[in-house]
Amino acid sequence: MALNHDELLKKVNPIYFSAKGCLILLAETGDPDLVNFCNGVDTEQLTAAATAQDPQITRGRIISLDVRYNMWNVLAEETDCQTIVDLPCGYLPHCLTAARLKKNYYGFDLPIVTDEISSVASKFMTDREKNFVHYHGVDATNYFSMRNALRGVEGKICIITDGLLGYFNRNDLKAVCENVNRLLREFGGCWYTSDSQFTDLMAITYAALTGGGREEMLAANDSGRRQVADSEDENIFSAGTLEERRRFMEACGFSVKSFRYPEKLRVIPSLKDEPALMNQLLSAYGEIEEWVLTAEETNAAERIDLPFAQKFSVSDGVLSVQLRGRLDTITAPKLLEEYEACREKFSFAEIKIDASELSYVSYAGLRAFRIMCEALEDSRRFKILNAGDDLKKSLAADFLDAI
Ligand SMILES: C[S@@+](CC[C@H](N)C(=O)[O-])C[C@H]1O[C@@H](n2cnc3c(N)ncnc32)[C@H](O)[C@@H]1O
Repeated sequence: MALNHDELLKKVNPIYFSAKGCLILLAETGDPDLVNFCNGVDTEQLTAAATAQDPQITRGRIISLDVRYNMWNVLAEETDCQTIVDLPCGYLPHCLTAARLKKNYYGFDLPIVTDEISSVASKFMTDREKNFVHYHGVDATNYFSMRNALRGVEGKICIITDGLLGYFNRNDLKAVCENVNRLLREFGGCWYTSDSQFTDLMAITYAALTGGGREEMLAANDSGRRQVADSEDENIFSAGTLEERRRFMEACGFSVKSFRYPEKLRVIPSLKDEPALMNQLLSAYGEIEEWVLTAEETNAAERIDLPFAQKFSVSDGVLSVQLRGRLDTITAPKLLEEYEACREKFSFAEIKIDASELSYVSYAGLRAFRIMCEALEDSRRFKILNAGDDLKKSLAADFLDAI
């Protein structure tokens, strides 16, 4: 039976799943906004998965998420930018924080996430608060999806990223950072991210709770990440050192400044009844760097992509697909949709992708290719022809034999 658009979105980009897990865990803190949002989203398949961990690991995760959640709120209050971009917003109620501060909130995430969370959020806002809140389905690897969503915005923007960079493959990580850099060069402002050391934060929390080592938490976290990310092509935010991450950001055109959690975060709300533990943790977090990045002038060429287009034909048992533009989270479901329709009508034993006009393939595009390739009886008959040199680099890890 043909899959609907939502199911196709899930197939090409399962990372969105991780964000519901974060909301479920955070709702355990009892914060009323988090509880309301958690009750509003569809969490049916997730509750068991999110909590099916060793209780100390789960507690460590909840406290670390609470720390990052509240740090986001502190930064939103502190910034002198009138517009805050929550990239990626997931399912968290940060829109309420921003609207109560009378700041414009732009919640950016994959369309499958923003479609659901925007309608949940609207139930918990007054009409006046709703004026401050804008959700947009974007793909962070796609500059124009974010730029278009910011149409009409004036003045500096403050982008806050919590839980994104470690999930990408190397190619997409670079694209996302270059896109954010380009937005900041255009609007001014800054980019805060706790992704600089997000696994270390969890490991330190776990060690303080249990008196044990950090390794168990790091291993649990890595296995969770691998279920949703493309592990064969790890990036430095999942596998590198802090110094490598900093150098990478500098190479993308950012000036990187850091501050420590205790400088800005004075309380951990979920631990307010356990002051000794709270103070112990806050002092342990002195090790962790949070970053604030600003864009430097650069001469980097700005990419222009052709609009996405696809043309299918079947002859002599070969499905030929001509692709143009970007194959990413937004466009990959369209490819799969038409591919599924072809499969229902025709039989074919070989697939040839003409990539001569394909400018970019994100991990969502790679997933779509993988689905098509694996459905063939002989996966060696999946071919990607005429790919340019840059594209070949992004395809090489998964499709070396096909290009
Ligand atoms: C670990 S969650 C973090 C979400 C939120 N900041 C939080 O703390 O709960 C990762 C989020 O990244 C989003 N995401 C994954 N790939 C993306 C992309 N290419 N563009 C925009 N968002 C993306 C997922 O949908 C998911 O909501």
